[in-house]
Order: sequence, then C-alpha cells, then structure tokens
Amino acid sequence: MKTIAFLSLTLLLVSCSSKWSAEQNKALLNEAKDNFEELNTNQINQVKFSDRIELGKKLYFEKKLSANGTLSCNSCHNLDNYGVDNEPTSPGFDGTRGGRNSPTVYNSAIHLAQFWDGRAKDVEEQALGPLLNPIEHGLKDKKQTMKILADAGYKPLFKKAFKGYKYPFTFKNIGKAIGAFEKTLMTPTRFDDFLAGDTSILSSSEKRGLSKFIEVGCVNCHNGMGIGGETYQKLGLEVPYPTQDKGRFDVTKDEDDMHVFKVPSLRNVVKTYPYFHDGHVKSLTQAIKIMGKHQLNAKLTNREISDIKSFLGSLTAKELKY
Ligand code: HEC
Ligand code: HEC
Repeated sequence: MKTIAFLSLTLLLVSCSSKWSAEQNKALLNEAKDNFEELNTNQINQVKFSDRIELGKKLYFEKKLSANGTLSCNSCHNLDNYGVDNEPTSPGFDGTRGGRNSPTVYNSAIHLAQFWDGRAKDVEEQALGPLLNPIEHGLKDKKQTMKILADAGYKPLFKKAFKGYKYPFTFKNIGKAIGAFEKTLMTPTRFDDFLAGDTSILSSSEKRGLSKFIEVGCVNCHNGMGIGGETYQKLGLEVPYPTQDKGRFDVTKDEDDMHVFKVPSLRNVVKTYPYFHDGHVKSLTQAIKIMGKHQLNAKLTNREISDIKSFLGSLTAKELKY
C-alpha cells in the first residue's frame, strides 16, 4: 500500500513539476523526431528566382486583379495576420461568400496538394483559381486579366521574371510567379528548434501536450513537416460528424472519399481560427475536443486538452516575414 501511495505521489509530482529530467527530454525528443520533421525553409532558390518572387509578391497584393478593384489575395489571406482573415467564410469582391474557410498561405506550399479537397496539385496551379472565380476576384477571363496587367505596366516585369521564355507574359505565369512567392512563406517555430535538439525551448505544459498529442493518436494524421497537410482523411472517422460538404468526393466521385478532407497543417493554428473546412468552430479548445471524439473516439480530460492546446501554441511563427 505504502509503496503504491509513494509511487503515485512521485508520478503526480513529476507530472506537476516544471522539471523534466534529461532522460525524459531525450525520450520525448526521439518520439517527436519519429513523427515530425523540422521545417525546410528552402522551398525555392531565392537568389536565382528573385525577380519571379518579387513579381509574385506584387501580384499577390494587386487589387486591380479583381472585378471592382477592391480585393487581392491578401484580402482573404492577410500576410500580417498569419495568412488568414479570421472569418468563418470569406467575402469575395461583391460580398458573396463561398462555403469554405480560407486556410493560411503560410507553409501551404509544402502540402501534398492545395485546397481543403486537394483539387489543385500545387500552389502554382492553385493561384489561378481565385482570379476567375465569380465569388472571389471575379475577373471575366484570361484575356481580361492579361489586359489589366498590361495596362498596369506588368509586361516588363514578366519579361524579367521569365527570362528565356518565348512567351513570358501569360496567364499561366501569373500562377508560377505567385507560387514562387508563396514558396518563400515558410514560418519556423519554437517547435522546430525543439526538433533540432533544444529541449529547453518548450515549457512543461507544451511538452506534456506534445507527449499527449502523440500518445492519443493525433499524430496518426497530423504529422510530418506540416504537422498535417500530408494525407487525406475522413472527418468523423470514428464517430460520424455532421457536415453537408462532400469534401474530396466532389473531386474523385469515389464513395470512399465522402467527407474526406486534406488534413490541415497545424502550423500557426492558434492564430488561424475559426476552424474546420467551413469555419464553424470558433475555439481551439472545442476543435481539439471534437477531434478527440470524432477522429479517435477518445474522451480527453480538460487538463489534456489544455496541454495539447499549449503544445499547438509552440507551432506559431516566431516572426512573419515576406
Ligand atoms: C475571397 C477570398 C479569397 C481570395 C480573394 C483568395 N482566396 Fe485563397 N482561398 C480562399 C478559400 C475560401 C480557400 C479554400 C477553398 C477550398 O478549399 O475549397 C482558399 C484556398 C487557398 C489556398 C490553399 C491553401 C491550402 O492549405 O490548401 C491557397 C494557397 C490560396 N488560397 C492562395 C490564394 C492566392 C494566391 C490568391 C490570389 C490569387 C487567393 N488565394 C485569393 C479564399 C480566398
Ligand atoms: C483520422 C485523422 C485525424 C486525427 C486522428 C486527428 N485529426 Fe485533426 N483533423 C483531421 C482532418 C481531416 C481535419 C479537417 C477537418 C475539416 O475541416 O473538416 C482536422 C482538423 C483539425 C483541426 C482544425 C484545423 C483548422 O485549421 O481548421 C485541429 C485543431 C485538429 N485537427 C487537431 C487535432 C488534434 C489535437 C487531434 C488529436 C486529439 C487530431 N486533430 C486528430 C484529421 C485528423
């Protein structure tokens, strides 16, 4: 009896105290390295492609690229605000909203594909979608888009950015330039420093949260360099979750893809509320609870949820540079 009481007291002390032993830190670091990867910030050669990146950045902020000259990519993906607008769904040029939440553009270039349903293969292809979308930028067609850019003096910039191209000034190259810029939008975090070996950089509660995140199985889906973004998974895998959105089914027409979505990256997740494909969940605590129940059939305690939330805080960018 005494030993058991003594043991549980020690365990309680260990879990409450702020001290992690060297062995505990090492074990957690190894476990983390088995499941996650440090962010690779070199997604593009920024010296070689400097003109293309510069053009992409200008296009990203270009309001002339919208039906009434009021909206740019940055309207819905505000780079000073972690690449989001914090709206459940976003108003387009005329105020009409679509059915999906705007994900962040930070680190999105490392995902296996773009959009909640993965319907664009990369950031270059993705960037062309919103321009002609009637409830986003609302431009008429490719021809009108190129005319707007020609009138705004963009031709020489395309020539510089696409040296050696027979036709540098094309609609497709808008996507290439914006994609090049997006490849520079990588945001290293304290968690990356942890993965690089600095175990003192995370607080005790962040470490407990990381340990729980792995132990309960969040890591089955949110893993790798993006802490997500690498696979498609069903929303409501264990316990069905109510949603009208068919997700990836709309892309593949495969019954198995009903309500399947790209697993979102959890980098900067504390800042990118509201949550889920339709932005209907405001609080991160609630999102974690839903995940526990519907993806894992696990009932997390308040303490576990709050530790996991602390850990997710270590995935916030140290700074926003663009
Ligand atoms: C009116 C708001 C709005 C504008 C303007 C807009 N987007 Fe988006 N963006 C969204 C929404 C909503 C989604 C998610 C749509 C979906 O998944 O079906 C999205 C998705 C994306 C994604 C995919 C991210 C991921 O994690 O899958 C990228 C990248 C992106 N947008 C970049 C851009 C660029 C570049 C522009 C400018 C050319 C732009 N967006 C203009 C609202 C907007
Ligand atoms: C079986 C795969 C799976 C597991 C396990 C899983 N998730 Fe998710 N997670 C997803 C998918 C898919 C989505 C996107 C769902 C949607 O938007 O409809 C998501 C969304 C999220 C979001 C919202 C992100 C955003 O930007 O909107 C958070 C936060 C999250 N998960 C955290 C967790 C945590 C914490 C755990 C463990 C308790 C967990 N997830 C377990 C697949 C999973």
